[in-house]
Amino acid sequence: MNLIHRALPEIDKQKVDLSTTVFGHKFSAPMIAGAITGGTQEATKINATIAEAVEKLGLGMGVGSQRAAIEDRTLEKTFAIARKKAPTAFLIANLGGVQLVNGYGLKELRKALEMIEADAIAIHLNALQETAQPEGQTNFKGVLEKIGEIAEELDKPVIAKETGAGIASEEAKKLQAAGVEGIDVSGAGGTSWAAVEYYRAKRRGNKSQCILGDVFWDWGIPTAASVVEVCQSVKIPVIASGGIRDGVDVAKALALGASLTGLSQPILQAAVKGVGETCSSLELIMNELRNAMFLVGASSIQKLHEAPSVISGKTSEWLKLRGFTVEAYARRGRD
Ligand SMILES: Cc1cc2nc3c(=O)[nH]c(=O)nc-3n(C[C@H](O)[C@H](O)[C@H](O)COP(=O)(O)O)c2cc1C
Repeated sequence: MNLIHRALPEIDKQKVDLSTTVFGHKFSAPMIAGAITGGTQEATKINATIAEAVEKLGLGMGVGSQRAAIEDRTLEKTFAIARKKAPTAFLIANLGGVQLVNGYGLKELRKALEMIEADAIAIHLNALQETAQPEGQTNFKGVLEKIGEIAEELDKPVIAKETGAGIASEEAKKLQAAGVEGIDVSGAGGTSWAAVEYYRAKRRGNKSQCILGDVFWDWGIPTAASVVEVCQSVKIPVIASGGIRDGVDVAKALALGASLTGLSQPILQAAVKGVGETCSSLELIMNELRNAMFLVGASSIQKLHEAPSVISGKTSEWLKLRGFTVEAYARRGRD
């Protein structure tokens, strides 16, 4: 995919405004650190580092699955550190959809929200990961209904979030109808859980599990295609994640209709080095986004949403076969 370069941007790069308001919260740029971790001492440090960076830069952050701390209260502090270090940033709690059919309900979700005084909760959908793990929980029957039940009761937005295999239009519509207020597509093309399981199996010397990870390595809906499918199917904010690596990726995702972008693997790589490195990485991406916006003549995020693009190759083929228009990608009638 390419954005259309404007030889005459007719705007002042210094006046490009990256800020945006989503879920009623003002972000200084349309970027959040995606869910990564929690539950261990090392995770506390990583959550603290990311939180400090996003607070400083006015961005948002998702914590990793809080299941461990729901099971063992002594681990709560490994997540709670995020709110301590980021008193005003948009924070997203996290629990697995499959846990909802395994007994989790409002009590556990409220606990997860309170643990980090979260602004929203992501219910992660990780069927690929569960099926690639020998110990995976693969009974997903009833997950959608449970999501609907909790979305109705909770007073914070529920975000349905994939974990690297993407969300199709059909599921997006069902999730919106069930009451979720945001969708994080987390498409294929970035972190691959099948690949993670491949390496885990290799270390254990489990050959058949290794083959399984290898076969499903690239499984999923590529992020760009998933963003278009979901943005053209629902009216709630869409977070583009899965392989977002620089400011041009962020710009492209927004031109396709996403409201925010999420980055996990690049943030993790920086966070293990410290707050300074994390801030620098995020600032670099913000600067790249500013450049891209300047080059397409978009002085604001709203204008970037309207920027035309050309989609070619596999994504174009995918969208044609799935019946999505390849001319106008920007979502119309956005909230
Ligand atoms: C080390 C690591 C741990 C993750 N843990 C979670 C998790 O607990 N919950 C979740 O919803 N997603 C989790 N994810 C998935 C990410 O939030 C994201 O959807 C996915 O990695 C794609 O983004 P990326 O290509 O920028 O890494 C994790 C990703 C990584 C790299």
